[in-house]
Amino acid sequence: HKHLLGIEPLHPEEIGTVLDLADRYAEMNRRENKHGDALAGMTQVNMFFENSTRTQSSFELAGKRLGADVMSMSMQTSSVKKGETLIDTAVTLNAMHPDLLVVRHPHSGAVDLLSEKVNCAVLNAGDGRHEHPTQALLDALTIRRAKGRLHRLNIAICGDIAHSRVARSNILLLHKMENRVRLVGPPTLMPAGVADWGVEIYHDMREGLADCDVVMMLRLQRERMDGGFIPSEREYFHRFGLDAEKLGYARPDAIVMHPGPMNRGVEIDGLIADDLTRSVIREQVEMGVAVRMAAMDLLARNLRAGRAAAPVLA
Ligand code: CP
Repeated sequence: HKHLLGIEPLHPEEIGTVLDLADRYAEMNRRENKHGDALAGMTQVNMFFENSTRTQSSFELAGKRLGADVMSMSMQTSSVKKGETLIDTAVTLNAMHPDLLVVRHPHSGAVDLLSEKVNCAVLNAGDGRHEHPTQALLDALTIRRAKGRLHRLNIAICGDIAHSRVARSNILLLHKMENRVRLVGPPTLMPAGVADWGVEIYHDMREGLADCDVVMMLRLQRERMDGGFIPSEREYFHRFGLDAEKLGYARPDAIVMHPGPMNRGVEIDGLIADDLTRSVIREQVEMGVAVRMAAMDLLARNLRAGRAAAPVLA
């Protein structure tokens, strides 16, 4: 692949290749010397048109640890504020010869469109409610390390599925790896056409969590609710917030995940999030750096192979 735009085009073996390499980078990241040279000489540009704590910082660290020159554009102070379009912005940056472009954008499909206008590798850091592929890969690595496998697991994804690119990428990945995926949440927060996704749907946490190995909680994405159904936080926590009682329906060794940002007391009880015997939320963040190192390393290899096949100067 030239780009990483989503989980959809990836084969299970390719997912395994990314995770195996990320596992090795996870070990490297625990050493004092964290430097590799897989991206030496390359330029990475991060363009985040939406807020981010985890994804932007981990992409930046990942590039620096692998030897790239990394520039994170401040989109708040860029000429986007003067009306320059996404495509004109990307074409302008492309003229500076970046090798890797990391893009987050509020509109589904915007990153795919951009990838057609530039001649570097593009990584989707989240587009609208479409895909967030590196999140699904880091979640998969976290599950594989905690459970010792990434197949035949019962995995419940709970909360605001309708507005979540994290849910969509995770469903695609976990399905490809032959897991049983359940979606748990109010009917109003289930996406249209979900019945065709090969998942089980529950509207009751007790039923949905029964015998689960993995419980993945999602934030209410109010910024995407455009005036539609917005539940009250108290009522939502009562029915769908993960607390000790509801977690009691999952397997005793079930792990608790959350991609962040987390709203304590809305979708998850802070005590559960902080219970390190169950919660792997911090490992998810740690694996985020390793997975992004692996994804950029593999795309850089493809870039080099492509350039060797079509040299600039014959
Ligand atoms: N999980 C995630 O994408 O977090 P950020 O929005 O902070 O990057």
